[in-house]
This record gives sequence, structure tokens and C-alpha cells, in this order.
Amino acid sequence: MKVLVIGSGAREHALCRALSLDPDVTALHCAPGNAGIAEVAELHTVDALDGVAVAELAASLEAELVVVGPEAPLVAGVADVVRARGIPVFGPSAEAAQLEGSKAFAKDVMAAAGVPTARAYVCTDEAEIDEALDAFGAPYVVKDDGLAAGKGVVVTSDIATAREHALACGRVVIEEYLDGPEVSLFAVTDGETVVPLQPAQDFKRAYDGDEGPNTGGMGAYSPLPWADPKLVDEVLATVLQPTVDELRRRETPFSGLLYAGLAITSRGVRVIEFNARFGDPETQVVLARLKTPLAGVLLAAATGRLDSLAPLRWSDGAAVTVVVASHNYPGTPRTGDPITGLGEVAEQDAPKAYVLHAGTKRDVASGDVVSAGGRVLSVTATGSDLVKARERAYRAVARIGLDGSHHRSDIAAKAAEEAGPGTASA
Ligand code: AMP
Ligand code: GLY
Repeated sequence: MKVLVIGSGAREHALCRALSLDPDVTALHCAPGNAGIAEVAELHTVDALDGVAVAELAASLEAELVVVGPEAPLVAGVADVVRARGIPVFGPSAEAAQLEGSKAFAKDVMAAAGVPTARAYVCTDEAEIDEALDAFGAPYVVKDDGLAAGKGVVVTSDIATAREHALACGRVVIEEYLDGPEVSLFAVTDGETVVPLQPAQDFKRAYDGDEGPNTGGMGAYSPLPWADPKLVDEVLATVLQPTVDELRRRETPFSGLLYAGLAITSRGVRVIEFNARFGDPETQVVLARLKTPLAGVLLAAATGRLDSLAPLRWSDGAAVTVVVASHNYPGTPRTGDPITGLGEVAEQDAPKAYVLHAGTKRDVASGDVVSAGGRVLSVTATGSDLVKARERAYRAVARIGLDGSHHRSDIAAKAAEEAGPGTASA
């Protein structure tokens, strides 16, 4: 199978890595990609938001499957254009991607499908904003309606900060505060059959101890030893399947990856948000544990054949990923800094620890790999349990040099401590 992946982050590197290990994949292409992806796939230049250009590229490469990684091309309708060319594509239509593209749309679908989520008001003017903030009280949860790369949400107990963000948003969703740990659960769907993956936890805040601003995600781990073993089945029955059924009923079926961001509250599971694509950095740990070759799974979703897919196989072990971010991320990041230590990780830690690239590129003049974005690397490791996977991930992080960079030192720390070391050796 010839596969083309669209995107350039660590999520796409994780997808490309998994696809490169799949014996059914005979050619792997990525556009635009990054310096790390270049090691496992052939890179091409494309405007990822231009559906016609992506479809042209896919046709010229004779791609038999196109996998669209990020949300922006999906919301822009890139999957629709590729599908219209008769090429199987993993990723929802623009209409179905509104589940991520508009928080108000997602709330409407959830209400119709009876999916449990935070009570919310959609506000467009100051009077509505004040009324909603007053109705819920602190802590305030204020969300820009549109796409904002994980940075459009403000959770604060300060009414002035909440108001200021709400007024800056235009259309804004103000909702009830949800307490309790967060879980990211992904499902692959063809619009009808829904196949959940393993749950993961993301660390959204920039600094240790969940301090600092929200980011796109600073690290992740899987499995979740503290979660109820019935969680996946419950979320499938109460969240994922009803949502997919509702979108099919609206004649805008959702095929691709449905990402449920959940809060496990004292009153039960609630949806915090939906995304229309694989999460970043959770994909790095979920795919590290998937034993079933990936291409066939994605192709089955793209071609409406998930009902005949054999059950997915998973490693019993754990995976941890730690994001190394640029100086000043999540503010405007500094770029162009050389990255060192990548060779040492490849020589000394692989295959159990490896570096997935996010914002990187190869400097043409020096040949060095340099930073090119906010989240630069996703250092990923596996092990028989979280303690081992963590140790390996942080050992690899310590080998990396990137001037001014920062990373969290507490990814999976609490879960690893609570679960204790396992007995298996890895
Ligand atoms: P979102 O972009 O909707 O995922 O929100 C980003 C982050 O804000 C989430 O991962 C949560 O940590 C936090 N958040 C969003 N909605 C709520 C809520 N209703 N209650 C508490 N925290 C929330
Ligand atoms: N890790 C959060 C996201 O992908 O939206």
C-alpha cells in the first residue's frame, strides 16, 4: 500500500513511524513533514490547506491511502477534495470536522445525542457573557468557539481575566467547570462502526504541577493504571457511538479519528471537547502500544470496512512521551536553535526510546537539525510499566541539547508512583 500522510508534527512522525513498520506499506510519503519524518518517509512540499494541491500530490504518487493529521486541513475540507478524486482518505469531511472546528456545534451534537458534557452557554455579546459567567460562578471556563490550537480556553477564578478573554473571542462558549482527572480516548470510525483505542492522559499546562498557561500538550502516557477498566466500554456506549450515530443521522457521517477529551468527575464521565483527528502528544504513546499494523486499520476506516476488522492487539506495557519545547513556548517561540544529542539517543536508547520530531527542520547551510516551532521534540519510550517507560524517556531527554528549551519533569510521575513498579522485565 502506498500511503501519503499530511502534516508536520510529532503526531505525524508517530503515524509515519508506525506506518513505516507496517509490512503492508510499500511506499510512505509525507507532506510537508519535518527533519525526523524525513528519516522514515519521502517528503514533499505542499500547502496542507489546499485540497486540490493535496489531491494532485496523492494522485501523482498513486497513493492508495491519504492520512490527514492536523485539524486545520480537515476543517478546510481537504479530505473532501481527496475523497472526490476517488482516493481513500483517513479523516472526516469539513462538515463532520465541525465537531472540532466549532465548540458550539459540538455542544449541539452532544445535546441531540444525549452525550454527557458540561452545561454551557454560547454568547455573542457582553450582556450574554456577564449573564453566563454569573450563572456558573468561579472557576470560570471560557472557550473561543473556533480553532485555537489548544490555546483558546481560559480556566480561571479571576472574573476580570474571564471577562477579558470572553470579550476578545467574538463567539464564545462559557461553561460549567468540570472537576476530576482528564482522559483522552481516541476511536477509529468509518461513520458507523466505532473502534476505540487505548486511553491516554495528556499534560496540557506548560509547567510542572499543572502550573502555567495551557499548551498544545507537554507530554502523555498510556495506559492509565488508575482508570476503571470498564471506562473504554462505557465511553464507547455513552459518548463515541451516540456521537457517530448522530452525525450519520444528520447525513454528515464522521469517518476518521474521533477524539474524546473527557473529565472523570464525581458525577461520572463528561466530555470536555471533541477533536476530529489524532491528539498530539497522546498519539505518540497510543501508537507505541498498538501491535496491530496501522495501515490496514486506517484503510478499513477510510473505506467503510471497520466491521470486518479483527480486534486490535495492544502491548501490555506502558509508553511515556515528554515534549521538549522552545524558549518562550507557548508564547511566540524562538526558532533556529541547533538540536544536539539525537544521534546519541538513536545509538544508545533505541528502540525502546526514540525521538519524534515536531517543529524541526534541517538547516540547509550547516546540515544541522534546528528548531522550527514551539513544540520541538516528543521524546517517547516504552517499558513493561510506567516507571520503566518514564526512566527511559527522561534518560533520552537528558541527552538532548536545545538552547533555552523547557520540558516538564513530572510527566506520568503520579501515575507511575501510584501504580508502583510492575513485575515483568522489559
Ligand atoms: P479544550 O480546548 O476544550 O480541550 O480545553 C483545554 C483544557 O482546558 C482542557 O484540557 C481542560 O484542562 C480545560 N478545560 C476545558 N473545559 C473545561 C471545563 N469545563 N472544566 C474544567 N476544565 C476545562
Ligand atoms: N493533546 C491535545 C490535542 O491534541 O488537542
